[in-house]
Amino acid sequence: MSAERILILDFGSQVTQLIARRVREAHVYCEIHPCDVSDDVVRAFAPRGIILSGSHGSTYEDHDLRAPRTVWDLGVPVLGICYGMQTMAAQLGGAVSWTDHQEFGYAEVRARGHTRLLQDLQDFQTPEGYGMLQVWMSHGDQVTALPPGFKLMASTDSCPIAGMADEARGYYGVQFHPEVTHTRQGKALLHRFVHQICGCSGDWIMGDYVSEAVERIRAQVGDAEVILGLSGGVDSSVAAALIHRAIGDQLTCVFVDHGLLRLNEGDMVMEMFAGKLQARVIRVDASALFLRELAGISDPEQKRKIIGRLFVEVFRAEAEELQAGRPGHPGATFLAQGTIYPDVIESGGAKSKKAVTIKSHHNVGGLPEQLGLQLLEPLRELFKDEVRELGVALGLPREMVYRHPFPGPGLGVRILGEVKQEYADLLRRADAIFIDELRAAIDPDTGESWYDQTSQAFAVFLPVKSVGVMGDGRTYDYVVALRAVQTSDFMTADWAELPYSLLKKVSSRIINEVRGINRVTYDISSKPPATIEWE
Ligand code: XMP
Repeated sequence: MSAERILILDFGSQVTQLIARRVREAHVYCEIHPCDVSDDVVRAFAPRGIILSGSHGSTYEDHDLRAPRTVWDLGVPVLGICYGMQTMAAQLGGAVSWTDHQEFGYAEVRARGHTRLLQDLQDFQTPEGYGMLQVWMSHGDQVTALPPGFKLMASTDSCPIAGMADEARGYYGVQFHPEVTHTRQGKALLHRFVHQICGCSGDWIMGDYVSEAVERIRAQVGDAEVILGLSGGVDSSVAAALIHRAIGDQLTCVFVDHGLLRLNEGDMVMEMFAGKLQARVIRVDASALFLRELAGISDPEQKRKIIGRLFVEVFRAEAEELQAGRPGHPGATFLAQGTIYPDVIESGGAKSKKAVTIKSHHNVGGLPEQLGLQLLEPLRELFKDEVRELGVALGLPREMVYRHPFPGPGLGVRILGEVKQEYADLLRRADAIFIDELRAAIDPDTGESWYDQTSQAFAVFLPVKSVGVMGDGRTYDYVVALRAVQTSDFMTADWAELPYSLLKKVSSRIINEVRGINRVTYDISSKPPATIEWE
Protein backbone atom coordinates (compact mmCIF):
# COMPACT_ATOMS: atom_id res chain seq x y z
CA MET A 1 0.00 0.00 0.00
CA SER A 2 1.17 3.49 -0.78
CA ALA A 3 2.62 5.35 2.20
CA GLU A 4 1.08 8.56 0.91
CA ARG A 5 -2.54 8.19 1.81
CA ILE A 6 -5.38 10.65 2.04
CA LEU A 7 -8.31 9.82 4.30
CA ILE A 8 -11.71 11.08 3.17
CA LEU A 9 -14.34 11.12 5.89
CA ASP A 10 -17.85 10.84 4.51
CA PHE A 11 -20.62 12.79 6.21
CA GLY A 12 -23.19 11.54 3.70
CA SER A 13 -22.85 13.86 0.73
CA GLN A 14 -24.06 12.71 -2.70
CA VAL A 15 -20.71 13.66 -4.20
CA THR A 16 -18.17 12.24 -1.77
CA GLN A 17 -16.99 9.77 -4.43
CA LEU A 18 -16.09 12.69 -6.63
CA ILE A 19 -13.61 13.85 -3.99
CA ALA A 20 -11.95 10.43 -4.16
CA ARG A 21 -11.93 10.59 -7.90
CA ARG A 22 -10.18 13.97 -7.95
CA VAL A 23 -7.58 12.74 -5.46
CA ARG A 24 -6.95 9.63 -7.58
CA GLU A 25 -6.63 11.90 -10.62
CA ALA A 26 -3.88 13.70 -8.74
CA HIS A 27 -2.20 10.26 -8.46
CA VAL A 28 -2.57 10.00 -4.72
CA TYR A 29 -4.01 6.97 -2.94
CA CYS A 30 -7.15 7.63 -0.89
CA GLU A 31 -9.91 5.81 0.92
CA ILE A 32 -13.36 6.92 1.97
CA HIS A 33 -14.47 5.98 5.47
CA PRO A 34 -17.67 6.91 7.32
CA CYS A 35 -17.35 9.99 9.51
CA ASP A 36 -18.01 8.00 12.69
CA VAL A 37 -15.02 5.73 12.15
CA SER A 38 -13.09 5.05 15.37
CA ASP A 39 -10.05 7.02 16.41
CA ASP A 40 -8.00 3.83 16.17
CA VAL A 41 -8.86 3.34 12.51
CA VAL A 42 -7.91 6.93 11.73
CA ARG A 43 -4.56 6.50 13.49
CA ALA A 44 -3.84 3.14 11.88
CA PHE A 45 -4.57 4.61 8.45
CA ALA A 46 -1.76 7.12 9.03
CA PRO A 47 -2.99 9.67 6.51
CA ARG A 48 -0.85 12.46 5.06
CA GLY A 49 -3.99 14.57 5.02
CA ILE A 50 -7.70 14.35 5.71
CA ILE A 51 -10.67 15.65 3.73
CA LEU A 52 -14.07 16.10 5.36
CA SER A 53 -16.98 15.79 2.92
CA GLY A 54 -20.26 17.66 2.68
CA SER A 55 -23.52 16.46 4.21
CA HIS A 56 -27.28 17.11 4.41
CA GLY A 57 -26.79 17.50 8.14
CA SER A 58 -26.54 20.53 10.33
CA THR A 59 -23.79 20.98 12.92
CA TYR A 60 -26.21 22.33 15.54
CA GLU A 61 -28.88 19.62 14.99
CA ASP A 62 -26.93 16.48 14.18
CA HIS A 63 -24.61 16.29 17.13
CA ASP A 64 -23.14 12.95 16.15
CA LEU A 65 -22.03 14.18 12.71
CA ARG A 66 -18.56 15.11 13.93
CA ALA A 67 -15.05 14.33 12.79
CA PRO A 68 -13.34 11.91 15.22
CA ARG A 69 -11.22 13.67 17.85
CA THR A 70 -8.01 12.18 16.43
CA VAL A 71 -8.42 14.15 13.22
CA TRP A 72 -7.33 17.24 15.16
CA ASP A 73 -4.57 15.45 17.09
CA LEU A 74 -2.64 13.90 14.21
CA GLY A 75 -0.91 17.08 13.12
CA VAL A 76 -1.78 16.54 9.43
CA PRO A 77 -3.52 19.00 7.09
CA VAL A 78 -7.32 18.90 6.96
CA LEU A 79 -9.59 20.23 4.22
CA GLY A 80 -13.27 20.69 5.09
CA ILE A 81 -15.70 20.91 2.19
CA CYS A 82 -19.15 22.49 2.72
CA TYR A 83 -20.47 20.67 5.82
CA GLY A 84 -16.88 19.56 6.38
CA MET A 85 -15.88 23.20 6.79
CA GLN A 86 -18.84 23.83 9.08
CA THR A 87 -17.99 20.95 11.39
CA MET A 88 -14.37 22.10 11.38
CA ALA A 89 -15.55 25.52 12.53
CA ALA A 90 -17.95 24.09 15.11
CA GLN A 91 -15.42 21.63 16.54
CA LEU A 92 -12.57 24.12 16.73
CA GLY A 93 -14.40 26.93 18.47
CA GLY A 94 -16.08 28.92 15.68
CA ALA A 95 -19.80 29.23 15.03
CA VAL A 96 -22.25 27.95 12.42
CA SER A 97 -25.80 29.07 11.90
CA TRP A 98 -28.69 28.98 9.54
CA THR A 99 -29.06 32.20 7.59
CA ASP A 100 -31.66 33.48 5.16
CA HIS A 101 -29.12 33.33 2.38
CA GLN A 102 -29.12 29.83 1.05
CA GLU A 103 -27.01 29.26 -2.02
CA PHE A 104 -27.62 26.49 -4.52
CA GLY A 105 -25.76 26.36 -7.79
CA TYR A 106 -23.41 28.76 -9.48
CA ALA A 107 -21.67 31.40 -7.38
CA GLU A 108 -18.75 33.75 -7.71
CA VAL A 109 -16.34 33.71 -4.80
CA ARG A 110 -13.79 36.35 -4.02
CA ALA A 111 -10.50 34.82 -2.95
CA ARG A 112 -8.94 36.67 -0.03
CA GLY A 113 -5.89 36.46 2.08
CA HIS A 114 -3.55 34.81 -0.44
CA THR A 115 -3.48 31.45 1.26
CA ARG A 116 -1.27 28.72 -0.12
CA LEU A 117 -4.35 26.79 -1.11
CA LEU A 118 -5.83 29.45 -3.38
CA GLN A 119 -2.72 31.35 -4.41
CA ASP A 120 -2.87 32.23 -8.12
CA LEU A 121 -6.07 30.28 -8.61
CA GLN A 122 -8.72 32.42 -10.25
CA ASP A 123 -11.19 32.38 -13.10
CA PHE A 124 -11.36 36.12 -13.71
CA GLN A 125 -10.60 39.48 -12.14
CA THR A 126 -13.12 42.15 -11.22
CA PRO A 127 -12.55 45.70 -12.52
CA GLU A 128 -11.27 46.48 -9.02
CA GLY A 129 -8.65 43.78 -9.42
CA TYR A 130 -10.08 41.10 -7.13
CA GLY A 131 -9.42 37.52 -8.12
CA MET A 132 -12.69 35.59 -8.51
CA LEU A 133 -13.52 31.89 -8.57
CA GLN A 134 -16.55 30.44 -10.33
CA VAL A 135 -17.85 27.74 -8.06
CA TRP A 136 -20.77 25.48 -7.21
CA MET A 137 -22.48 25.95 -3.87
CA SER A 138 -25.15 23.95 -2.09
CA HIS A 139 -25.82 25.04 1.46
CA GLY A 140 -28.26 26.61 3.90
CA ASP A 141 -26.04 26.83 6.97
CA GLN A 142 -22.83 28.80 7.00
CA VAL A 143 -19.90 29.60 9.24
CA THR A 144 -20.64 32.84 11.07
CA ALA A 145 -17.57 33.09 13.31
CA LEU A 146 -14.05 31.93 12.55
CA PRO A 147 -12.46 29.54 15.05
CA PRO A 148 -9.41 30.91 16.91
CA GLY A 149 -6.29 30.88 14.73
CA PHE A 150 -8.24 31.00 11.43
CA LYS A 151 -8.32 33.78 8.87
CA LEU A 152 -10.78 34.56 6.13
CA MET A 153 -9.90 32.89 2.81
CA ALA A 154 -12.90 33.53 0.54
CA SER A 155 -16.29 35.22 0.52
CA THR A 156 -19.40 35.85 -1.55
CA ASP A 157 -21.98 38.59 -1.13
CA SER A 158 -24.33 36.28 0.72
CA CYS A 159 -21.73 34.12 2.46
CA PRO A 160 -19.09 36.33 4.06
CA ILE A 161 -17.10 33.31 5.28
CA ALA A 162 -16.99 31.10 2.16
CA GLY A 163 -13.49 29.91 2.94
CA MET A 164 -11.22 29.93 6.00
CA ALA A 165 -7.71 28.82 6.77
CA ASP A 166 -5.31 28.23 9.62
CA GLU A 167 -2.16 27.90 7.60
CA ALA A 168 0.07 27.09 10.56
CA ARG A 169 -1.85 23.85 11.14
CA GLY A 170 -2.69 23.26 7.47
CA TYR A 171 -6.44 23.52 8.11
CA TYR A 172 -8.58 24.81 5.26
CA GLY A 173 -12.33 25.05 4.80
CA VAL A 174 -14.30 25.89 1.67
CA GLN A 175 -18.05 26.37 1.62
CA PHE A 176 -18.20 25.54 -2.10
CA HIS A 177 -17.64 22.12 -3.68
CA PRO A 178 -14.24 21.82 -5.38
CA GLU A 179 -14.93 18.18 -6.31
CA VAL A 180 -17.63 18.96 -8.90
CA THR A 181 -16.69 20.02 -12.41
CA HIS A 182 -18.84 23.17 -12.18
CA THR A 183 -16.19 24.57 -9.84
CA ARG A 184 -13.71 25.37 -12.54
CA GLN A 185 -10.58 25.49 -10.41
CA GLY A 186 -11.77 22.69 -8.16
CA LYS A 187 -9.48 20.07 -9.57
CA ALA A 188 -6.51 22.41 -9.23
CA LEU A 189 -7.50 23.20 -5.65
CA LEU A 190 -7.69 19.54 -4.61
CA HIS A 191 -4.51 18.81 -6.50
CA ARG A 192 -2.80 21.59 -4.59
CA PHE A 193 -4.15 20.38 -1.27
CA VAL A 194 -2.84 16.83 -1.65
CA HIS A 195 0.47 17.80 -3.27
CA GLN A 196 1.65 21.11 -1.83
CA ILE A 197 -0.21 21.18 1.46
CA CYS A 198 -0.10 17.46 2.38
CA GLY A 199 3.22 16.85 0.64
CA CYS A 200 2.20 13.82 -1.41
CA SER A 201 4.41 13.28 -4.44
CA GLY A 202 1.69 11.81 -6.64
CA ASP A 203 3.30 8.54 -7.60
CA TRP A 204 0.18 6.42 -7.31
CA ILE A 205 -1.08 4.92 -10.56
CA MET A 206 -3.83 2.54 -11.67
CA GLY A 207 -1.27 -0.27 -11.62
CA ASP A 208 -0.98 0.24 -7.85
CA TYR A 209 -4.73 0.12 -7.58
CA VAL A 210 -4.59 -3.38 -9.04
CA SER A 211 -2.35 -4.72 -6.27
CA GLU A 212 -4.32 -2.91 -3.58
CA ALA A 213 -7.63 -4.20 -4.94
CA VAL A 214 -6.19 -7.71 -5.24
CA GLU A 215 -5.22 -7.61 -1.56
CA ARG A 216 -8.67 -6.38 -0.57
CA ILE A 217 -10.40 -9.13 -2.57
CA ARG A 218 -8.18 -11.82 -1.03
CA ALA A 219 -8.89 -10.49 2.45
CA GLN A 220 -12.63 -10.43 1.82
CA VAL A 221 -12.93 -13.81 0.11
CA GLY A 222 -10.35 -15.93 1.92
CA ASP A 223 -10.50 -19.42 0.43
CA ALA A 224 -14.19 -19.22 -0.54
CA GLU A 225 -15.46 -19.72 -4.09
CA VAL A 226 -16.94 -16.92 -6.16
CA ILE A 227 -19.45 -16.83 -9.05
CA LEU A 228 -19.56 -13.97 -11.53
CA GLY A 229 -22.00 -13.30 -14.37
CA LEU A 230 -19.88 -12.40 -17.37
CA SER A 231 -21.74 -10.46 -20.06
CA GLY A 232 -18.93 -9.33 -22.33
CA GLY A 233 -19.54 -5.73 -21.28
CA VAL A 234 -16.76 -3.57 -19.87
CA ASP A 235 -17.75 -3.69 -16.21
CA SER A 236 -18.22 -7.42 -15.80
CA SER A 237 -15.09 -8.08 -17.89
CA VAL A 238 -12.89 -5.83 -15.78
CA ALA A 239 -14.38 -7.24 -12.57
CA ALA A 240 -13.71 -10.79 -13.81
CA ALA A 241 -10.12 -10.01 -14.79
CA LEU A 242 -9.44 -8.32 -11.45
CA ILE A 243 -11.00 -11.06 -9.33
CA HIS A 244 -9.28 -13.73 -11.38
CA ARG A 245 -5.95 -11.97 -10.76
CA ALA A 246 -6.74 -12.09 -7.02
CA ILE A 247 -8.08 -15.60 -6.54
CA GLY A 248 -7.53 -17.54 -9.79
CA ASP A 249 -9.56 -20.73 -9.91
CA GLN A 250 -11.67 -19.84 -6.90
CA LEU A 251 -13.60 -17.73 -9.42
CA THR A 252 -16.06 -19.28 -11.88
CA CYS A 253 -17.56 -17.01 -14.52
CA VAL A 254 -20.97 -17.83 -15.93
CA PHE A 255 -21.48 -16.46 -19.41
CA VAL A 256 -25.11 -16.67 -20.47
CA ASP A 257 -25.25 -16.39 -24.25
CA HIS A 258 -28.82 -15.31 -25.04
CA GLY A 259 -28.19 -15.39 -28.77
CA LEU A 260 -28.70 -11.63 -29.01
CA LEU A 261 -25.04 -10.65 -28.91
CA ARG A 262 -23.04 -8.90 -31.61
CA LEU A 263 -21.17 -10.75 -34.37
CA ASN A 264 -18.66 -13.26 -32.88
CA GLU A 265 -19.02 -11.62 -29.47
CA GLY A 266 -19.59 -14.86 -27.59
CA ASP A 267 -16.49 -16.47 -29.09
CA MET A 268 -14.41 -13.38 -28.35
CA VAL A 269 -15.45 -13.43 -24.70
CA MET A 270 -14.47 -17.10 -24.44
CA GLU A 271 -11.18 -16.55 -26.24
CA MET A 272 -10.27 -13.74 -23.90
CA PHE A 273 -11.31 -15.24 -20.57
CA ALA A 274 -11.15 -19.00 -20.98
CA GLY A 275 -8.30 -18.78 -23.53
CA LYS A 276 -5.94 -15.96 -22.73
CA LEU A 277 -6.64 -15.45 -19.03
CA GLN A 278 -7.18 -19.18 -18.39
CA ALA A 279 -10.14 -18.39 -16.17
CA ARG A 280 -12.85 -20.92 -15.41
CA VAL A 281 -15.79 -19.90 -17.62
CA ILE A 282 -19.03 -21.78 -18.14
CA ARG A 283 -20.67 -20.75 -21.39
CA VAL A 284 -24.37 -21.45 -21.39
CA ASP A 285 -25.83 -21.39 -24.87
CA ALA A 286 -29.40 -20.40 -24.12
CA SER A 287 -30.20 -18.87 -27.51
CA ALA A 288 -32.82 -21.46 -28.44
CA LEU A 289 -34.65 -20.90 -25.16
CA PHE A 290 -34.63 -17.11 -25.57
CA LEU A 291 -35.85 -17.27 -29.17
CA ARG A 292 -38.61 -19.69 -28.25
CA GLU A 293 -39.89 -17.52 -25.43
CA LEU A 294 -39.69 -14.37 -27.53
CA ALA A 295 -41.65 -15.83 -30.44
CA GLY A 296 -44.74 -13.81 -31.23
CA ILE A 297 -43.87 -11.03 -28.77
CA SER A 298 -43.48 -7.57 -30.25
CA ASP A 299 -44.04 -5.18 -27.34
CA PRO A 300 -40.67 -3.69 -26.31
CA GLU A 301 -41.25 -3.72 -22.57
CA GLN A 302 -42.61 -7.27 -22.67
CA LYS A 303 -39.52 -8.33 -24.63
CA ARG A 304 -37.28 -6.69 -22.04
CA LYS A 305 -39.11 -8.44 -19.21
CA ILE A 306 -38.87 -11.84 -20.86
CA ILE A 307 -35.16 -11.43 -21.59
CA GLY A 308 -34.50 -10.21 -18.04
CA ARG A 309 -36.48 -13.04 -16.47
CA LEU A 310 -34.89 -15.78 -18.58
CA PHE A 311 -31.45 -14.37 -17.97
CA VAL A 312 -31.95 -14.56 -14.22
CA GLU A 313 -33.47 -18.07 -14.46
CA VAL A 314 -30.61 -19.45 -16.53
CA PHE A 315 -27.99 -17.75 -14.42
CA ARG A 316 -29.67 -18.89 -11.24
CA ALA A 317 -29.70 -22.54 -12.31
CA GLU A 318 -25.95 -22.38 -12.94
CA ALA A 319 -25.32 -20.50 -9.73
CA GLU A 320 -27.23 -23.10 -7.71
CA GLU A 321 -25.09 -25.86 -9.16
CA LEU A 322 -21.93 -23.98 -8.33
CA GLN A 323 -23.27 -23.34 -4.87
CA ALA A 324 -23.71 -27.05 -4.37
CA GLY A 325 -20.00 -27.50 -5.06
CA ARG A 326 -18.05 -30.16 -6.94
CA PRO A 327 -15.65 -32.89 -5.86
CA GLY A 328 -12.79 -31.36 -3.96
CA HIS A 329 -14.36 -27.91 -4.01
CA PRO A 330 -16.70 -26.36 -1.50
CA GLY A 331 -19.75 -24.58 -2.89
CA ALA A 332 -19.56 -20.94 -3.93
CA THR A 333 -20.50 -18.47 -1.25
CA PHE A 334 -19.89 -15.17 -3.06
CA LEU A 335 -21.56 -13.56 -6.04
CA ALA A 336 -19.37 -11.00 -7.78
CA GLN A 337 -20.84 -8.12 -9.75
CA GLY A 338 -19.35 -5.39 -11.90
CA THR A 339 -21.35 -2.67 -10.14
CA ILE A 340 -19.62 0.66 -10.68
CA TYR A 341 -20.13 3.89 -8.81
CA PRO A 342 -22.72 5.46 -11.15
CA ASP A 343 -24.89 2.32 -10.66
CA VAL A 344 -24.68 2.87 -6.94
CA ILE A 345 -25.91 6.45 -7.24
CA GLU A 346 -28.60 5.45 -9.70
CA SER A 347 -30.07 2.83 -7.44
CA GLY A 348 -30.24 5.41 -4.65
CA GLY A 349 -32.63 7.51 -6.66
CA ALA A 350 -33.37 5.89 -9.98
CA LYS A 351 -34.12 8.66 -12.44
CA SER A 352 -36.58 6.81 -14.59
CA LYS A 353 -38.36 3.51 -14.90
CA LYS A 354 -35.85 2.55 -17.53
CA ALA A 355 -32.99 3.04 -15.14
CA VAL A 356 -34.66 0.55 -12.85
CA THR A 357 -34.96 -1.95 -15.70
CA ILE A 358 -31.31 -1.44 -16.56
CA LYS A 359 -30.34 -2.22 -13.02
CA SER A 360 -32.50 -5.27 -12.49
CA HIS A 361 -31.27 -6.86 -15.68
CA HIS A 362 -27.64 -6.08 -15.35
CA ASN A 363 -27.18 -6.89 -11.73
CA VAL A 364 -29.35 -9.97 -11.50
CA GLY A 365 -31.27 -8.04 -8.85
CA GLY A 366 -32.31 -9.82 -5.68
CA LEU A 367 -30.39 -13.02 -6.49
CA PRO A 368 -27.68 -12.72 -3.85
CA GLU A 369 -30.27 -12.56 -1.07
CA GLN A 370 -32.42 -15.35 -2.54
CA LEU A 371 -29.43 -17.64 -2.85
CA GLY A 372 -27.85 -16.55 0.39
CA LEU A 373 -24.69 -15.41 -1.39
CA GLN A 374 -22.45 -12.62 -0.18
CA LEU A 375 -21.77 -9.80 -2.60
CA LEU A 376 -18.34 -8.99 -3.97
CA GLU A 377 -18.27 -5.68 -5.86
CA PRO A 378 -14.67 -4.62 -6.39
CA LEU A 379 -15.48 -1.77 -8.81
CA ARG A 380 -18.07 -0.12 -6.57
CA GLU A 381 -16.03 2.98 -5.99
CA LEU A 382 -14.83 3.58 -9.54
CA PHE A 383 -16.18 5.72 -12.34
CA LYS A 384 -16.49 4.35 -15.87
CA ASP A 385 -13.29 5.86 -17.20
CA GLU A 386 -11.39 4.58 -14.17
CA VAL A 387 -12.82 1.09 -14.78
CA ARG A 388 -11.47 1.32 -18.33
CA GLU A 389 -8.05 2.41 -17.11
CA LEU A 390 -8.08 -0.47 -14.66
CA GLY A 391 -8.98 -2.87 -17.46
CA VAL A 392 -5.98 -1.72 -19.46
CA ALA A 393 -3.75 -2.03 -16.39
CA LEU A 394 -5.01 -5.62 -16.04
CA GLY A 395 -3.97 -6.37 -19.60
CA LEU A 396 -7.38 -6.44 -21.26
CA PRO A 397 -7.28 -5.28 -24.90
CA ARG A 398 -8.03 -1.57 -25.37
CA GLU A 399 -10.56 -2.46 -28.01
CA MET A 400 -12.60 -4.43 -25.50
CA VAL A 401 -12.24 -1.94 -22.68
CA TYR A 402 -13.15 1.11 -24.77
CA ARG A 403 -16.10 -0.55 -26.45
CA HIS A 404 -19.36 1.36 -26.75
CA PRO A 405 -21.99 0.35 -24.20
CA PHE A 406 -24.30 -2.48 -25.21
CA PRO A 407 -27.72 -2.91 -23.59
CA GLY A 408 -28.40 -5.99 -21.47
CA PRO A 409 -31.24 -7.20 -23.73
CA GLY A 410 -28.80 -6.89 -26.64
CA LEU A 411 -30.13 -7.11 -30.17
CA GLY A 412 -33.52 -7.88 -28.60
CA VAL A 413 -34.18 -4.12 -28.46
CA ARG A 414 -32.51 -3.45 -31.82
CA ILE A 415 -34.79 -5.75 -33.79
CA LEU A 416 -38.06 -3.85 -33.87
CA GLY A 417 -41.03 -5.98 -32.96
CA GLU A 418 -40.77 -9.76 -32.95
CA VAL A 419 -37.30 -11.23 -32.60
CA LYS A 420 -36.39 -13.94 -35.10
CA GLN A 421 -33.18 -15.81 -35.74
CA GLU A 422 -33.08 -14.61 -39.35
CA TYR A 423 -33.41 -10.98 -38.31
CA ALA A 424 -30.72 -11.33 -35.65
CA ASP A 425 -28.30 -12.87 -38.16
CA LEU A 426 -28.88 -10.11 -40.73
CA LEU A 427 -28.57 -7.39 -38.11
CA ARG A 428 -25.34 -8.80 -36.66
CA ARG A 429 -23.65 -8.67 -40.04
CA ALA A 430 -24.86 -5.16 -40.90
CA ASP A 431 -23.86 -3.91 -37.47
CA ALA A 432 -20.37 -5.40 -37.76
CA ILE A 433 -19.80 -3.62 -41.07
CA PHE A 434 -20.91 -0.29 -39.59
CA ILE A 435 -18.60 -0.69 -36.59
CA ASP A 436 -15.65 -1.83 -38.75
CA GLU A 437 -15.96 1.24 -40.93
CA LEU A 438 -16.32 3.57 -37.95
CA ARG A 439 -13.12 2.17 -36.49
CA ALA A 440 -11.31 2.49 -39.81
CA ALA A 441 -12.42 6.06 -40.59
CA ILE A 442 -10.07 8.65 -39.12
CA ASP A 443 -11.33 12.20 -38.77
CA PRO A 444 -8.53 14.36 -40.23
CA ASP A 445 -9.46 17.27 -37.91
CA THR A 446 -8.79 15.31 -34.74
CA GLY A 447 -6.75 12.29 -35.79
CA GLU A 448 -9.25 10.07 -33.96
CA SER A 449 -11.42 7.34 -35.42
CA TRP A 450 -15.12 8.00 -35.77
CA TYR A 451 -15.69 5.04 -33.46
CA ASP A 452 -13.85 6.87 -30.69
CA GLN A 453 -15.63 10.09 -31.53
CA THR A 454 -19.07 8.60 -31.05
CA SER A 455 -20.45 7.43 -27.73
CA GLN A 456 -22.62 4.69 -29.13
CA ALA A 457 -23.19 3.44 -32.66
CA PHE A 458 -25.12 0.46 -33.96
CA ALA A 459 -27.51 -0.79 -36.61
CA VAL A 460 -31.23 -1.35 -36.02
CA PHE A 461 -33.27 -3.94 -37.87
CA LEU A 462 -36.57 -2.73 -39.35
CA PRO A 463 -38.87 -5.61 -40.20
CA VAL A 464 -40.34 -3.89 -43.24
CA LYS A 465 -39.58 -4.68 -46.86
CA SER A 466 -38.88 -2.21 -49.57
CA VAL A 467 -38.28 -2.51 -53.27
CA GLY A 468 -34.82 -2.23 -54.76
CA VAL A 469 -32.95 -3.05 -57.89
CA MET A 470 -29.79 -5.11 -58.06
CA GLY A 471 -28.14 -5.96 -61.36
CA ASP A 472 -31.05 -6.64 -63.68
CA GLY A 473 -33.33 -7.87 -60.96
CA ARG A 474 -35.84 -6.45 -58.56
CA THR A 475 -35.28 -7.00 -54.84
CA TYR A 476 -37.81 -6.87 -52.06
CA ASP A 477 -35.82 -6.91 -48.84
CA TYR A 478 -35.43 -5.56 -45.31
CA VAL A 479 -34.19 -2.17 -44.11
CA VAL A 480 -31.60 -1.27 -41.49
CA ALA A 481 -31.20 2.07 -39.81
CA LEU A 482 -27.80 3.26 -38.63
CA ARG A 483 -27.66 5.10 -35.32
CA ALA A 484 -24.63 6.99 -34.02
CA VAL A 485 -24.78 9.43 -31.13
CA GLN A 486 -22.54 11.69 -29.12
CA THR A 487 -23.31 12.20 -25.46
CA SER A 488 -21.56 12.56 -22.14
CA ASP A 489 -24.24 11.08 -19.89
CA PHE A 490 -26.62 9.13 -22.19
CA MET A 491 -29.50 11.17 -20.73
CA THR A 492 -29.37 13.55 -23.66
CA ALA A 493 -27.62 12.88 -26.96
CA ASP A 494 -26.98 14.41 -30.37
CA TRP A 495 -26.90 12.36 -33.54
CA ALA A 496 -23.36 12.28 -34.86
CA GLU A 497 -22.57 14.27 -37.98
CA LEU A 498 -20.73 11.43 -39.68
CA PRO A 499 -19.11 12.29 -43.01
CA TYR A 500 -21.24 11.47 -46.05
CA SER A 501 -18.35 9.51 -47.54
CA LEU A 502 -18.35 7.22 -44.51
CA LEU A 503 -22.12 6.73 -44.61
CA LYS A 504 -21.91 6.02 -48.31
CA LYS A 505 -19.30 3.32 -47.82
CA VAL A 506 -21.20 1.67 -44.98
CA SER A 507 -24.43 1.67 -46.95
CA SER A 508 -22.83 0.25 -50.04
CA ARG A 509 -21.03 -2.49 -48.12
CA ILE A 510 -24.14 -3.53 -46.19
CA ILE A 511 -26.32 -3.70 -49.30
CA ASN A 512 -23.69 -5.59 -51.27
CA GLU A 513 -22.51 -7.93 -48.56
CA VAL A 514 -25.64 -8.71 -46.57
CA ARG A 515 -28.07 -10.49 -48.82
CA GLY A 516 -31.54 -9.75 -47.45
CA ILE A 517 -31.01 -6.04 -46.82
CA ASN A 518 -31.47 -3.63 -49.69
CA ARG A 519 -31.89 -0.27 -47.98
CA VAL A 520 -29.92 1.63 -45.33
CA THR A 521 -31.08 4.80 -43.59
CA TYR A 522 -29.36 7.11 -41.10
CA ASP A 523 -31.20 8.17 -37.96
CA ILE A 524 -31.01 11.94 -37.45
CA SER A 525 -33.05 12.19 -34.25
CA SER A 526 -31.64 13.68 -31.07
CA LYS A 527 -32.47 12.57 -27.55
CA PRO A 528 -34.85 13.92 -26.42
CA PRO A 529 -37.35 13.54 -27.95
CA ALA A 530 -36.08 10.26 -29.44
CA THR A 531 -34.22 7.74 -27.26
CA ILE A 532 -30.87 6.29 -28.24
CA GLU A 533 -32.21 2.77 -28.76
CA TRP A 534 -35.25 2.40 -30.98
CA GLU A 535 -37.12 0.34 -28.40
P1 XMP B 1 -32.08 5.11 -24.30
O1 XMP B 1 -32.58 4.22 -25.41
O2 XMP B 1 -32.94 5.04 -23.07
O3 XMP B 1 -30.66 4.51 -23.89
O4 XMP B 1 -31.85 6.52 -24.75
C1 XMP B 1 -29.77 5.11 -22.99
C2 XMP B 1 -28.65 4.13 -22.74
O5 XMP B 1 -29.15 2.99 -22.03
C3 XMP B 1 -28.95 1.80 -22.78
N1 XMP B 1 -30.13 0.97 -22.60
C4 XMP B 1 -30.18 -0.17 -21.89
N2 XMP B 1 -29.22 -0.84 -21.22
N3 XMP B 1 -30.80 -2.49 -20.59
C5 XMP B 1 -29.54 -1.99 -20.59
O6 XMP B 1 -28.66 -2.62 -19.99
C6 XMP B 1 -31.82 -1.89 -21.25
O7 XMP B 1 -32.96 -2.35 -21.23
C7 XMP B 1 -31.48 -0.66 -21.93
N4 XMP B 1 -32.21 0.22 -22.67
C8 XMP B 1 -31.37 1.21 -23.07
C9 XMP B 1 -28.74 2.25 -24.21
O8 XMP B 1 -27.99 1.30 -24.95
C10 XMP B 1 -28.03 3.57 -24.02
O9 XMP B 1 -26.66 3.38 -23.79
